[in-house]
Amino acid sequence: MKFKLFLFSFTFFSFIQTNYAQVNYTLTILDSGHRVSLRGLSAINNQVFWVSGSSGTVFRSEDGGKTLEKLTVKGFEKRDFRDIDALDARHAYIMAVDSPGLILKTSDGGKSWKTIFTDTSKGVFLDAFAFNQDGAAVVVGDPLQNKLAYMLLKKKDDDHFQKSMNSPVLETGEAFFAASGTNVQYVPGTRDYVLVSGGMVSRFFNKNEITKLPLLQGAETTGANSIAVWDKDNMYVVGGDFLHDKDITGNACYTKDGGKTWLYPETPPFGYRSCVMYLKENILLTCGTSGVDISTDGGIHWKNISTLGFHVCQLSKDGKVVFLAGQGGRIARLTLE
Ligand SMILES: *[C@@H]1O[C@H](CO)[C@@H](O)[C@H](O)[C@H]1NC(C)=O
Repeated sequence: MKFKLFLFSFTFFSFIQTNYAQVNYTLTILDSGHRVSLRGLSAINNQVFWVSGSSGTVFRSEDGGKTLEKLTVKGFEKRDFRDIDALDARHAYIMAVDSPGLILKTSDGGKSWKTIFTDTSKGVFLDAFAFNQDGAAVVVGDPLQNKLAYMLLKKKDDDHFQKSMNSPVLETGEAFFAASGTNVQYVPGTRDYVLVSGGMVSRFFNKNEITKLPLLQGAETTGANSIAVWDKDNMYVVGGDFLHDKDITGNACYTKDGGKTWLYPETPPFGYRSCVMYLKENILLTCGTSGVDISTDGGIHWKNISTLGFHVCQLSKDGKVVFLAGQGGRIARLTLE
């Protein structure tokens, strides 16, 4: 079923200026017309993007959001699809968190879906997945028994997921958030991935390095929610406490040496943030339930561009446009000039 999306559409033209660079942007707020929580987003270009969320919701647009197609995932109408990764307008994977944990795939633009992974074990909770350009994937979930993190890997051109042999051992109360599907990421152009945890303990993991993040932690609702990876050295992490979403304490940090050492921004984002993304080497965008911020100096200083809440922001794979999605079915498009 297709329906008009531009029922309520507001556009803000603006620019921000810092000592470092000027960025002009246009934020267009769209409304899906469905009061669902949207946490999965995958954008191909300024026309094609996919969004997923609660109540079995998957949306797809092929015209930059002018019209939004609501897809039905037959038999899974009540599931919470917290993450989505689309390869193009026809191929996409979606992930349902628990009871059971599921990964489904479509190859026909969402007309039909095939279940390619199911875990019915008690306590399974999938948080996020990431795919690299070879089609390899990593899936991260909450710990299951013996404090072992739940981690799956998929090889190129093969839909079979296998438990990782070297999943990191987690500390008591350490877990992963299913906030925006972005706490696991591949280092661009490689088969190496990084993860960030939260809860009682918030840490960074890559194949050689496990370091404690200087973020707010010590409660179930605190810690890292998202990591953005520019290259093997430069990465940015956001989080905080989603119960206190205007609190700026320990809500962001970055590394310039692949995670060995972490630094605080001088002007942090304006509250708890669930997603962060590099738009260019020094331009970053972050969002959370209390607003959206941009940085033009590599994340050292942040400026708020909206107080509207979003769970997830994603740069399109062609690097031309950003889409955002959040609670209440809210979707937006951010264009940088
Ligand atoms: C930035 O945040 C302040 C304080 O919450 C608010 O008054 C202002 O309107 C925000 N700016 C934008 C562009 O939303």
